[in-house]
Amino acid sequence: MNKITAAITAIGGYVPETKLTNADLEKMVDTNDEWIRTRTGISERRILKEKGKGVSDMIIPAVQQILTKKNLNPLDIDCIICATVTPDMVFPATANIVADKIGAKNAWGFDLEAACSGFLFALATGTAFIESGKYKKVVVVGADKMSAIVDYTDRNTCILFGDGAGAVLLEPNTEGNGIIDSILKTDGSGKEYLHMKSGGSVNPSSIETVTAREHFVYQEGKTVFKFAVKGMADVSAELLERNHLTGNDIAWLVPHQANLRIIDATTERLGLSKDKVMININRYGNTTAATIPLCLWEWEKQLKKGDNLVLAAFGGGFTWGAILLKWAY
Ligand code: UT7
Repeated sequence: MNKITAAITAIGGYVPETKLTNADLEKMVDTNDEWIRTRTGISERRILKEKGKGVSDMIIPAVQQILTKKNLNPLDIDCIICATVTPDMVFPATANIVADKIGAKNAWGFDLEAACSGFLFALATGTAFIESGKYKKVVVVGADKMSAIVDYTDRNTCILFGDGAGAVLLEPNTEGNGIIDSILKTDGSGKEYLHMKSGGSVNPSSIETVTAREHFVYQEGKTVFKFAVKGMADVSAELLERNHLTGNDIAWLVPHQANLRIIDATTERLGLSKDKVMININRYGNTTAATIPLCLWEWEKQLKKGDNLVLAAFGGGFTWGAILLKWAY
């Protein structure tokens, strides 16, 4: 029998209707469209504005697209892994809330927190479950409602982030397609440069932590930028090298969308032409765990069976990594 690999067999995505443009941000903080576009590549982002709506409200329509596309009974889903740093609540897991709302009564699930690399970490985890032979249908989600933790008085961070959700279905494959290899890394010493200071067990929420604006994303952009450029490019190059591939063998690079300059550096390092790189940062900004599945969702029609894709990310933690996969449909 051929080896079982885990293949993506369907994708769903969701972005909220409301746009937050650079012109809107000019009215909120001391910034300008030209600075934002040239330093980041972003023109606008989507924001989930409605009060009382959380990240699960974006995930559910994304997963429902998968159910429709595959004519899949939710009772057949074995497991839901939800990568997010903005869960509906600290607990229970957003994966449980999603399972309940879509009627996946037979599924177990959990949330996984690896910031911008969350989708890659969740995809690698789901892959191991499928490869084990124990599970046949695993839903892997990358989603974040960053507007819930962004300080819209801080021009260093508020221009960067947006909201969105993407989801994929993983199923066994015996044709040699699917996830081929992954390299995933963490370095907790990076926490001082990118974090949310309070609301965890070290600094529980209090009037003082709220007054000090400690429940928002804090980032030392320049430092993170340097680590990101090196980390994302190095890990992608290592992945190609150990699989005896060059840029010529790659149909698509699917990079985390944090900054166009970081994406360009990885593109150059792999020797890829720019038309082989999925880029939507201009329209959605940095949606943290959602960037990579949202790219796959938008480019789905252009993907061909057997295409080699490299998925690569760097983010808070620090966390970073790259996954090589052969498109399965
Ligand atoms: O996805 C998670 C991982 N995160 C990342 O990968 C993000 C990595 N970092 C970055 O993408 C970039 O560092 C930023 C886009 C966040 C910032 O770009 P930069 O080129 O590193 O700018 P900077 O922070 O060094 O700031 C340069 C100047 C500063 O002014 P002075 O000190 O030179 O006078 C800032 O105060 O730009 C100023 N500045 C702004 N000006 C207009 C910072 N933010 C803004 C702004 N509008 N929004």
